[in-house]
Amino acid sequence: MTERTPLIAGNWKMHKTVAEALDTTRTLIALTEDVTGVDLMIAPPSVSLAPMAELLTGSRIALGAQNLHWEQQGAYTGELSAQMLASAGCSYVLIGHSERRQYFGETDETVNKRLKAALAADLIPVVCIGETDAQREAGETFSVLDNQVINGLDGLFSDDLGSLVIAYEPVWAIGTGKTASDEQAQEAHRYIRELMDRQFGKALANTVRILYGGSVKPSNVKALMAMPDVDGALVGGASLAAESFSQLAHYQA
Ligand code: PGA
Repeated sequence: MTERTPLIAGNWKMHKTVAEALDTTRTLIALTEDVTGVDLMIAPPSVSLAPMAELLTGSRIALGAQNLHWEQQGAYTGELSAQMLASAGCSYVLIGHSERRQYFGETDETVNKRLKAALAADLIPVVCIGETDAQREAGETFSVLDNQVINGLDGLFSDDLGSLVIAYEPVWAIGTGKTASDEQAQEAHRYIRELMDRQFGKALANTVRILYGGSVKPSNVKALMAMPDVDGALVGGASLAAESFSQLAHYQA
C-alpha cells in the first residue's frame, strides 16, 4: 500500500486578530515540536499570514491561505494572488471551501481557475468538496462529488496534480457538531479515490491525500484517522485553541 503522510490542517476562518493569531502560534509551535510523521498546517486570516510565517520558520507547522484569486495581479479590489500568498510564506491554499461556495458564489468553474493558479505558483492546493444535507437526503452524494471533482479538476492531468490534497467536508457536518460516522467518511473517501483512479489513473489515486472535515475534534479524530482512506483532517472550531490543535496533531499518541 502507498504511504500517504497524514495531514492535520487547521482552518481558522474569520477568527483571531493578528496579536491573537501570533499568540496562539507561539503556543502551538511549542506544543507540536515533538510531532513526527504527520504534516501540520494552519490557515489563518490573510492579515496574519506574513507575521505568522516569520514565527513558523523552522517549526513543524506549514502556513496556508484560505482562498486565492486566479489572476496574478490587476484591478481586483480585495483579492490576493497565488504569487502574493507564496511571497507571504504560504505553502498551502484552501480552494472552494463550502462557505466560499455558499456565501461568496464560488462554483466548480472558479475552483478550477483557482486550482490552476495555485499549481502554477507551486502552492499545495486543498480542494474542498462535499454534499449538503438535502443532497445526501436525496441520494445525490456521489453525483455531487462526481461533479465537484470532474469540473473542479477539469483540464488538468495526473502530472499536474502530484501535490493535490482533497478535503471531503459534508456541509451538514461543518460547525454543526454532527460528524460523519467513521463509515460514512470512509465510504465517501473510497468513492473519491476510485473516482480519481477513473479520471487520473491508479498512481495518483493511491497518493492523493483525502482529508475529512466537519466537526473533527480530539475525541473523534483517532477513529476517523483509522479509516483506510482518511489521510488527515481539515479542522475549523477545534483548531482555534492551541491545546486542542495540539491534541489533534498528537492523535497517534
Ligand atoms: P468545523 O469546520 O471543524 O468547525 O466543523 C471544518 C471546516 O469548515 O473546515
